[in-house]
Amino acid sequence: MAGYLAAGGLLALAQSALAVPVLEARIVSTPTTTFTSDAATIVPIVPVTNVSYHGPYTGPAPTTTGAMSTSVLASSVPILPPEAGKFAYPADGDLHADEPAPYTPAGGLGTNGSEPVYRVQSDFDYQSIALGLYQEWIELDLFHWGLATYSTEEWEAAGLTAEDRFLIEFMADQEVGHATILTNMLGPNAPKQCTYNYPTMNPREYIDFNQKLTRWGESGVYGFLNHLDSREVGQILLQSITTEARQQMIFRQFNGQFPMPVWFESGIPQSWAWTLLAPYISSCPEGTKQLIWQNYPALHILNQPNVARIDGASVYNETLGDYANTANTAGIAPKDACVNATEVGANCSPAITHNRTIPLSYPGREVFLQWDKPGSPVGPNNSYITSTSAGTPMFALWVSQLNATYTPLLNVSGNTGYTIQPNVSTFEGDPAINGTMFLALTDVDIPVTPFNLSSINSHVYAVSLYQAG
Ligand SMILES: *[C@@H]1O[C@H](CO)[C@@H](O)[C@H](O)[C@H]1NC(C)=O
Ligand SMILES: *[C@@H]1O[C@H](CO)[C@@H](O)[C@H](O)[C@H]1NC(C)=O
Ligand SMILES: *[C@@H]1O[C@H](CO)[C@@H](O)[C@H](O)[C@H]1NC(C)=O
Ligand SMILES: *[C@@H]1O[C@H](CO)[C@@H](O)[C@H](O)[C@H]1NC(C)=O
Ligand SMILES: *[C@@H]1O[C@H](CO)[C@@H](O)[C@H](O)[C@H]1NC(C)=O
Ligand SMILES: *[C@@H]1O[C@H](CO)[C@@H](O)[C@H](O)[C@H]1NC(C)=O
Ligand SMILES: *[C@@H]1O[C@H](CO)[C@@H](O)[C@H](O)[C@H]1NC(C)=O
Ligand SMILES: *[C@@H]1O[C@H](CO)[C@@H](O)[C@H](O)[C@H]1NC(C)=O
Ligand SMILES: *[C@@H]1O[C@H](CO)[C@@H](O)[C@H](O)[C@H]1NC(C)=O
Ligand SMILES: *[C@@H]1O[C@H](CO)[C@@H](O)[C@H](O)[C@H]1NC(C)=O
Ligand SMILES: *[C@@H]1O[C@H](CO)[C@@H](O)[C@H](O)[C@H]1NC(C)=O
Repeated sequence: MAGYLAAGGLLALAQSALAVPVLEARIVSTPTTTFTSDAATIVPIVPVTNVSYHGPYTGPAPTTTGAMSTSVLASSVPILPPEAGKFAYPADGDLHADEPAPYTPAGGLGTNGSEPVYRVQSDFDYQSIALGLYQEWIELDLFHWGLATYSTEEWEAAGLTAEDRFLIEFMADQEVGHATILTNMLGPNAPKQCTYNYPTMNPREYIDFNQKLTRWGESGVYGFLNHLDSREVGQILLQSITTEARQQMIFRQFNGQFPMPVWFESGIPQSWAWTLLAPYISSCPEGTKQLIWQNYPALHILNQPNVARIDGASVYNETLGDYANTANTAGIAPKDACVNATEVGANCSPAITHNRTIPLSYPGREVFLQWDKPGSPVGPNNSYITSTSAGTPMFALWVSQLNATYTPLLNVSGNTGYTIQPNVSTFEGDPAINGTMFLALTDVDIPVTPFNLSSINSHVYAVSLYQAG
């Protein structure tokens, strides 16, 4: 077949532009018998059943409570200097070792021909991939649930067409594949599909919830991906999370937001993702093992910007009151809602992209906060307990793009206070604080960067999402 093309098509193309019509004529194709090769690996199918219950957990008190743990060796991981030798490689563009094979530079991990083993290799791997699997399972249900919950009229009133709804259905199908592949890399004790407890939402709020949930799903993986012991597992996870990243962006587009207002997506620690995810899980089947991850107390952003308003920054107490601080559209008068606005800069109907004349947030904005105390039951079967090892919150930690920036908490009184949105650029021309990003409260302001962000965990008091743009 290649020979036919080379003789009749490509060579002709190379010889003369006049031959182009010949190539066009030849590439017209008719359906014919297909060929395939034997699969190198076969991934067992994981049965998927529809979730039959949605609502709060009402069953008996759990027999096991709290995160799973073993002997804990220290209260936190030490801060150490860089490893010796990390500056040794010359990085000058020349080759510094013999090549293992032609066109093959020396070095790399998993490049010496050993057969890949797509299997977790440590507690770190297992707990991280199990967390990822909980996320895939909830997305599978959440996408189906929305489609089953709202009428065609409700969808259309929110500007979402039958084609848009099919895209959500397709996203649910993608989650079947993601749940299957993660289950197989974990083995028989992998977490199963659970039941879920979503806030009461209209389609617009549902889309906002989805763009927030997929944000922590995506960022939760970026936080641990390059720390996994198993490079093979990391490879497969990467190929699923890039799909999830597309889902997150599409939900922003359905929400009428600028699809990607940042130059970099952030990673967050596993315990932050679990803190945000667990409250929406009602119960998990018998035999489900506890995870190791921490559930921090909720952080309520009292003036969380509201994406459904033309002026989304001038708001107070307009969330659904949930962990994710999802937008609440109940109090928005039609003239203040952006979904039916027609003017460029005001209109936020579903679209590839929209400008927003009045930004949702800006450097210098006062952000009013309220946080819960630890000790509340949360998550599957109410079997996890919110906790923190931090002292009184002193700082807000803004995690966006490549930056982790502290601002002081001001006027702290009881469990409320406020902070001021910082003026940070990741690079010149790229304001760091934008998009759907993360806000945590801490008791210290020790520096952290993308590869060691989880070092702050023992100082974190509460965690949430901030709708900066
Ligand atoms: C699950 O629900 C979907 C509709 O949301 C339906 O198409 C599918 O057949 C159901 N699957 C099972 C296993 O019941
Ligand atoms: C191949 O590389 C891995 C690390 O990526 C190493 O553990 C293993 O020992 C190497 N195998 C051989 C045959 O050199
Ligand atoms: C937007 O317009 C649609 C169609 O006219 C309507 O059903 C919906 O209620 C409007 N939404 C708002 C927030 O005004
Ligand atoms: C969670 O609760 C459900 C319903 O009461 C029960 O069937 C299940 O066994 C419980 N899960 C665990 C892990 O105990
Ligand atoms: C926010 O509004 C809810 C009712 O919608 C109310 O119960 C709650 O107290 C309000 N919170 C604040 C901090 O004003
Ligand atoms: C959208 O916003 C950008 C940046 O502010 C601006 O340059 C552009 O003109 C705007 N486009 C429209 C159609 O308003
Ligand atoms: C976020 O990005 C959008 C799109 O570029 C821009 O219009 C908006 O002003 C930015 N917001 C902030 C706070 O920089
Ligand atoms: C933010 O910093 C930039 C660059 O230093 C400056 O031009 C801008 O005025 C600052 N904005 C605010 C609100 O402080
Ligand atoms: C913070 O407290 C000071 C002193 O009590 C008060 O003047 C100021 O208005 C407060 N700021 C806010 C934003 O509440
Ligand atoms: C934000 O991150 C970039 C990239 O790491 C860094 O160059 C910049 O200094 C950071 N800015 C702040 C204020 O932390
Ligand atoms: C994290 O890494 C940065 C360098 O990128 C370093 O300055 C900082 O001390 C580290 N933080 C912790 C808590 O280890």
